[in-house]
Amino acid sequence: MSITPKYFLFLLLIGLFNEAQAELFSGGQPQLGKALVEKHCIQCHAKQFGGDGSKIYTREHRIVKTSQGLLTQVRNCNTMIGLQWFEDEELHATSYLNNTYYHFVK
Ligand code: HEC
Repeated sequence: MSITPKYFLFLLLIGLFNEAQAELFSGGQPQLGKALVEKHCIQCHAKQFGGDGSKIYTREHRIVKTSQGLLTQVRNCNTMIGLQWFEDEELHATSYLNNTYYHFVK
């Protein structure tokens, strides 16, 4: 298969995108974050917002507007429920939420 210029551009963009995502919340591992969020967080969100609780992240007037805000909110909820997550667990959860719902790139 030959690589057409269009396909090359496509690959380049994917690479840049991954780079940006990787730098944001660096060290955060979304797969680990998913398990943490499912275990500790979504039950309460689901109770308040219905369904699987994910509407809280995508609602029109959501409170999180920036990547820094997302990290802050993850910390707030974490502190509120007294989980005492370590910094790396906060980063895992934050990178999962960002990859799945918020899609901040910087
Ligand atoms: C006891 C209930 C409860 C638990 C448990 C909980 N949250 Fe929340 N969370 C809330 C409420 C209520 C809000 C909405 C606050 C508001 O609208 O001002 C919220 C909002 C959020 C938001 C912002 C949504 C937006 O509007 O953009 C994020 C992100 C979030 N929570 C993450 C987490 C994470 C991560 C955990 C697990 C560590 C967690 N929450 C556990 C109650 C909870």
